[in-house]
Amino acid sequence: MQMTVNNVTIGYTDEGRGVPLLFVHGFPLSRGAWQKQIDTLRSSYRVIAPDLRGFGESETGTGPVTMAQYADDLHVLLPQLKTGPVVLIGHSMGGYVSFAFLRQYPEMVRGLILVSTKAGKDTPEAAAGRRATAEKVQAMGVPVVIETMAPKMLAADNHDRAMAEEVRGFMAPSKPAGVIGALLGMAERPDATAELARISVPTLVITGADDTLISPTESEKLAQAIPGSQLNIIPQAGHLVAFEQPDKFNHVLEGWLDRAAFAVPVSDL
Ligand code: MLT
Repeated sequence: MQMTVNNVTIGYTDEGRGVPLLFVHGFPLSRGAWQKQIDTLRSSYRVIAPDLRGFGESETGTGPVTMAQYADDLHVLLPQLKTGPVVLIGHSMGGYVSFAFLRQYPEMVRGLILVSTKAGKDTPEAAAGRRATAEKVQAMGVPVVIETMAPKMLAADNHDRAMAEEVRGFMAPSKPAGVIGALLGMAERPDATAELARISVPTLVITGADDTLISPTESEKLAQAIPGSQLNIIPQAGHLVAFEQPDKFNHVLEGWLDRAAFAVPVSDL
């Protein structure tokens, strides 16, 4: 499906009925990375997964795309879909977007799931590295980023070639301006650490034990800081834990959603 938000046409999935779950993908991925969650959860929940601007089937704007801008796009999308408050699920950069969304539109969040992400901002070195990568993408295109990022998405000892190809497929449609915009936007994102103690919605923090892009230590820090949150570290999974270990990931998600009382009896739908 497609919808124009803030002058950009974005692609999205909207399936199932029930409590709305909004899945926000990471960098430089697209909503296909959530397909194994969509397939499982759509029988009990309303599952919404957009391609952020510049990724997947979505058009791109120009210039840096702040996390606030992505959050604003989502905030324009949701009323058009008449969702009401959502359970917000953000992977990695999608987690940075989730912090922005929570900051800007807290009334639209009824629950939070932070997947392989972190609250801190970039160090000056990391921000400079992102700007340098953006210049490389400008000169050489998106494959530069795919070559660096794709091998880091799965656990180092996962040699499943079909899976690795699928990961590249999630990244392939990314537009150069979209990737550049995200890199520059991530480089200037604010630190969300001080906000963690004020998160008052039920929160699940989940990551892969073998994530080398964002250490599981970051998830431990999130869980320590967010009141009442639950932490799950999934073994034999790297950065793209939801795709690499979908059964274990979905099991944790479904159990948590159930316990947080987000499951709605079918008769109430
Ligand atoms: C992601 O998966 O979204 C990225 O690894 C996030 C980042 O580069 O900080």
